[in-house]
Amino acid sequence: MKTRYAFLILFTFLALRASFAADSTPTPSATPSPSFSPNSQFPPQPTPPWLSPADELKTFQVPDGYRMELVLSEPDIREPVLCVFDGNGRMYVSEMRSYMQDSDGTGEQKPTSLVSRHESTKGDGVFDRHTVFAGNLVLPRMVLPMEKDAVIISLTNTNDLSIYRDSKGDGVSDKIEPFYKGGPREGNMEHQPCGPFWCMDNWLYVTANPYRLRWRPDGPPLKETTPANGGQWGITQDDYGKIWWSNAGAEKALYHFQTPVIYGAIDVPDQLETGFMEVWPATGLADFQGGPMRVRPDKTLNHFTGCCGQEVFRGDRLPADLRGDVLLPEPVGRMVRRAKVTVQDGVTCLSNPYQPQHSEFIRSTDPYFRPVWTTTGPDGCLYIVDMYRGIIQEGGWTGKGSYLRKVIDQYGLQKVIGSGRIWRLVHKDFQPGPQPHMFDETSAQLVTHLEHPNGWWRDQAQKLLVLRQDKSVVPALEKMTRSGTNPLGRIQALWTLEGLDAVEPALLREMFKANDPHMRATAIRVSESLFKNGDQSLKPDVRALVNDPDPGVVIQVLGTAKVLKWPGWELLALSTIGTSSSKGVKEIGHEILYTPENFDRGVFTASEVTRLQKGRDIYQQLCFACHGMDGHGMPMEDQPPGTTLAPPLAGSATVLGPREGMISVLLHGTIGPVNGKNYVAVMPPVGTNNDEWVASVVSYVRNGFGNGAPPVTPEQVAGIRAASASRVQPWSHEELKSMLPQPLANDQEWKISVVNSGTASLVISGKLTTTCTIGTAQSPGETLQIELPAETLVSAVFLDAGNPDNFPRSYKLELSGDGVTWEKPVAEGTGTGRLTQITFAPGSAKFLRITQTGSKRRPWSISKIQVFTPAQTPALSAAAEGASK
Ligand code: HEC
Repeated sequence: MKTRYAFLILFTFLALRASFAADSTPTPSATPSPSFSPNSQFPPQPTPPWLSPADELKTFQVPDGYRMELVLSEPDIREPVLCVFDGNGRMYVSEMRSYMQDSDGTGEQKPTSLVSRHESTKGDGVFDRHTVFAGNLVLPRMVLPMEKDAVIISLTNTNDLSIYRDSKGDGVSDKIEPFYKGGPREGNMEHQPCGPFWCMDNWLYVTANPYRLRWRPDGPPLKETTPANGGQWGITQDDYGKIWWSNAGAEKALYHFQTPVIYGAIDVPDQLETGFMEVWPATGLADFQGGPMRVRPDKTLNHFTGCCGQEVFRGDRLPADLRGDVLLPEPVGRMVRRAKVTVQDGVTCLSNPYQPQHSEFIRSTDPYFRPVWTTTGPDGCLYIVDMYRGIIQEGGWTGKGSYLRKVIDQYGLQKVIGSGRIWRLVHKDFQPGPQPHMFDETSAQLVTHLEHPNGWWRDQAQKLLVLRQDKSVVPALEKMTRSGTNPLGRIQALWTLEGLDAVEPALLREMFKANDPHMRATAIRVSESLFKNGDQSLKPDVRALVNDPDPGVVIQVLGTAKVLKWPGWELLALSTIGTSSSKGVKEIGHEILYTPENFDRGVFTASEVTRLQKGRDIYQQLCFACHGMDGHGMPMEDQPPGTTLAPPLAGSATVLGPREGMISVLLHGTIGPVNGKNYVAVMPPVGTNNDEWVASVVSYVRNGFGNGAPPVTPEQVAGIRAASASRVQPWSHEELKSMLPQPLANDQEWKISVVNSGTASLVISGKLTTTCTIGTAQSPGETLQIELPAETLVSAVFLDAGNPDNFPRSYKLELSGDGVTWEKPVAEGTGTGRLTQITFAPGSAKFLRITQTGSKRRPWSISKIQVFTPAQTPALSAAAEGASK
């Protein structure tokens, strides 16, 4: 009976699924240029002239009524990459003074960068007092002003966040205190985090790291994991506390913007207007890392590639139709995109309003205009940080021999360094607003700013009120939440209460009935902190809102149910998206339900990525009904907690063991018990599907849900299918086990040593008791040797890195009888995840030697080693091996 129930869900879902489009990634309409030949000789060209700020100003093209104004320039700032304002309107600028000072980035890691502070002492918007707030830094990349004397700063190559304090009040920090210890960070500097950004939900977000932090009045910040946000340089929020991300590396412009990331890194079809990814610069030198593919005949960029530094414009001193739109600099294209934001039936959609004219919001004809950051200022205008330089890409993309390097050399672009400008975009119909003095105001005065028409003031006031933890304003905040005149102020007042830990359930119940759907959704989101604090009383109220007429509210209920892991939330989501007629609820609800994993991360081949994605689709149509969307087993609502329809596949020994095991389970089915447990459902054999299908779903399950075993190929499936062709019955677990290679049980007697490691040498003997980590970066030649007590027939070695990153990038395995003469390698391959499974034709050996042959800025770790002897019933293993790649 329970099985029927499972199939019912399955059936409903299959019917539903048919209505969703498969791929959500919009395809760019890039037009490779016919006339631009990739083999052209790059003849030397004159270097374009460096322009003074006054001359650069003349090169800007902006829509009618708008005008750029210079705010700061060299020598007051050089190589600026971001600017932010504190509660008194003082501007902090991160200056990466060592960034790409030549074509190779020589000396880039030298501590010569700084965070400068700029003040308008007359309060007229002219910054006339400049200090080095923090100097001698390595490429500072994160700046968040807190209280009057404190600024959080983080540098490149670390995830640590520190508070720099200016205790004397002279604009120069004199004390550094740890705020968050995140440890060292590696990788290209363009891929490192940006932030921390104080979001309306009172959590601090950073890009490129899957977590958020929460400042607390006492003790270190709280930390929660989030789905990977995929963001790189740039972070901003809209009026409702949703963070917007961009990714230049993936040429993705804006993405994951359908919901706050905590509910999933979500994209849906049609979220970008056709052609949105095409860009329309006013100038170009064909100097793009993507090469000729990205170049138009007139040498301009044809597609987003350096998109970064985005800002939702929330100021009040530019025309109203700009408010809520996202500005997105494209420094490689020398322009700033304006993305018009509309919400259509619950789906957030972006378009380029200047697309019909083949133009952009802001462009320059000066090839050194390099906008990398935008922000709404306290004065209600838009600020644009312009690195003003020749080379914009980092050294990883300008190496000798690269296409980009040839163009850089052709024009001598490396010569223009050491400048930098900050511009303010103003409009003829508006006067810039006054300078804030929030640090000098009372908490009651700060509360009034929560209703300010400029979002910068609202955010700043909220942050300062939370930092003050002054509960005397709670009644005023409650009053504003209930009856404030600015709907955005009401939302921000409620979040401020949340930050003061002062939200009463009764207030939320009232807000669940508010007229403004944004307020209803906010109240649901705020209720999450009450649930987390143990107060479950609002659950029926929140659940009931799944029937709200507004798609945004329904989506919020699903997101909240998911992050709070309410039992049965998946069924709630399934039935909601099944019955809803809203596009947003259907598409975003679907994504909330099926958190996508990203397999395209450089370790799998293109065909493996395709197979993994296809396997995920199969899993989410079929297997999830019993094994659960998260691979932990589908919970049964009418049974005691923890009862599931089928066993977990996350961490399953069958899934993570020799591949013959799981492939056999799929071809012919299996019967329980599994680990002593019987299940009401029965595993259906799915062998009628072809080898590609089976290989896809096996590969996915071996890599989904935190599993990290190598994918399998259709050929391997074919081998096992042939070897077990006569099988009709499902396998019992005992039978399965007897068909698989057996791990040697005498590991206590092995001698293990690590020799010849490129960066460090380390010798260990006997069994691994702790994780063995070799060096700090993998380089070819690191060797792990295992000496068995006696010569043994062996057919596989499994290595568990104990960590998803530290697996050997590639390897070879050799056997020897005496440890002196080694036969030619019996296996060579590449690691793909935590588990490296090396299988080979059985051979006799006393010594086994695994040599790491790849390079990666990650150490090689081994926390567990298994050596296998062939199966008692060898037919399957032989078949699987015979067909191995
Ligand atoms: C109708 C429910 C149901 C469906 C659908 C289902 N399974 Fe199973 N599966 C089970 C049950 C139940 C077991 C445990 C064996 C038993 O009791 O029959 C199981 C066992 C397994 C095992 C072995 C687990 C272990 O730890 O030994 C794997 C692997 C597996 N299933 C994968 C899949 C995959 C992949 C799919 C989709 C192609 C799938 N299952 C679809 C119910 C199901």
